[in-house]
Amino acid sequence: MTAPTFDRSIKIAPSILSADFANFGKECEAIEAEGCDWVHVDVMDGHFVPNITFGPATCKAIRPHIKGVMDVHLMIAPCDQYLPAFAEAGADVLTVHAEAGPHLDRSLQLIRDLGPKVGVALNPSTPAEAIEHVLDRLDLVCVMTVNPGFGGQSFIDMTAKVRRLREMIGDRPVHIEIDGGVTPATAPLVAAAGADVLVAGSAVFKGGSVSNPAPYGENIRAIRAAAEAAQG
Ligand code: DX5
Ligand code: ZN
Repeated sequence: MTAPTFDRSIKIAPSILSADFANFGKECEAIEAEGCDWVHVDVMDGHFVPNITFGPATCKAIRPHIKGVMDVHLMIAPCDQYLPAFAEAGADVLTVHAEAGPHLDRSLQLIRDLGPKVGVALNPSTPAEAIEHVLDRLDLVCVMTVNPGFGGQSFIDMTAKVRRLREMIGDRPVHIEIDGGVTPATAPLVAAAGADVLVAGSAVFKGGSVSNPAPYGENIRAIRAAAEAAQG
């Protein structure tokens, strides 16, 4: 496990939802070699979201192929009974959705007790204020800029929500992560508003493959440069 150290520098987290599913290990190694910061792992259950990906066994299998931070985004409901398995699989950051159940505070406490960094994700329709009373339990807030379930969707502008969360977070060491539709064109909007972790699936993996990984690096650098210029 690689506990992420806290800072507000821009971190690029490719989502392996856009990788070759038959080659996860090599894909993770390729994106890290090409300069990504975190690896974002999207778990979908066909119930909370209308798509199915994989579960804790796959996370455990890819863990040895990731040197840095494994950032696991759970789009599952209910989630509590599965949290131990994802922690044991080696998640460094474990994120649940605020909308996944009635007892968010309990889920966050459970993750804290299990060891990973604690994340909460907000769907586009969920206000920042939904997590006002759990801010002290968090290491990361993930602002969804698409309705979760699929890669390659268009960015939904959540700039005002990011700005509001940045104010609410204040001096707390809590990352703001953006997930969905992040490209060199949209990254500056959210970086300027206060985001520091940028998840990008299609915009990182487009044009490349494990046998031709150079485009991954070019795509990562393009997103990072656009975001850093806007962050100031
Ligand atoms: C959406 C996932 C995202 C997604 C991002 O439900 O949580 O991580 O893969 O993909 P792009 O960057 O293609 O929008
Ligand atoms: Zn995600």
